[in-house]
Formats: sequence, C-alpha cells, structure tokens
Amino acid sequence: MIGDWLDIGPISQIEAGTARTLPVEGGEEIAVFHTMRNEFFALRNKCPHKQGPLSQGIVHGDVVTCPLHNWNISLRSGKALGDDEGCVPTIPLKVDAGRIYLLRSAVIGTGETDTAQTRAAA
Ligand code: FES
Repeated sequence: MIGDWLDIGPISQIEAGTARTLPVEGGEEIAVFHTMRNEFFALRNKCPHKQGPLSQGIVHGDVVTCPLHNWNISLRSGKALGDDEGCVPTIPLKVDAGRIYLLRSAVIGTGETDTAQTRAAA
C-alpha cells in the first residue's frame, strides 16, 4: 500500500559509518546505511557492477565503495559515480522519533518475483 511505512527498528542499531542488512522474504536483501553525517539511506544490497554486497563496503560522505572492485555508488541516487555506469534501486527511508522506516511498497514491490511472499523480516 503506498504511503505505508515499515518500522525496521531504532537508529541506534546501526553505527555511524556502517550498514546493516535487512532480509526480505521473497525479495532482495536491503542494505541500510548510517553515514558519518548522520544520514540514513536504504538500497538494494547489490552492486550494479557484479552484485557485490554494498553493505560491506566503506561509507564515506554519501557514497559507498563496493568491497569487490571499488566502484563508488551514491547512497542518494544508487548511481555508480565517475566513469562507471549502473544504478541500484534505492528504497525511500525516513527517520522518525529515533526509528527507521522504509516505504513498504518499495521494500516489497521490487522483489524478484511478484508471486513470492511479501512480508519483510526485520
Ligand atoms: S561488484 Fe561492486 S564493483 Fe564490482
């Protein structure tokens, strides 16, 4: 349902400069990032190059460097920066009263199959 937000827990669960992953039943894993500037972003946990786990990359500014071949991915847009080309889907995220919320329709709407279970597991 559009406009419906999924509570994935307190912001304190993600240390600044790191990311946590959120498994999605029937969909693709999401990486939730907490930057050193105290911003939060959510992206599919797959590098647009060869699907490296972006959650394990190094976060600097609003960019993550993929752990596999060092592509730089914008956390804001999901786009590869510099000479590299590609884009990973971003998930709308908001922080409210110290908790992180993801747009439910984005979490469940871009999974690999339409018919799979659509419940997100925190
Ligand atoms: S898989 Fe991310 S840079 Fe190659």
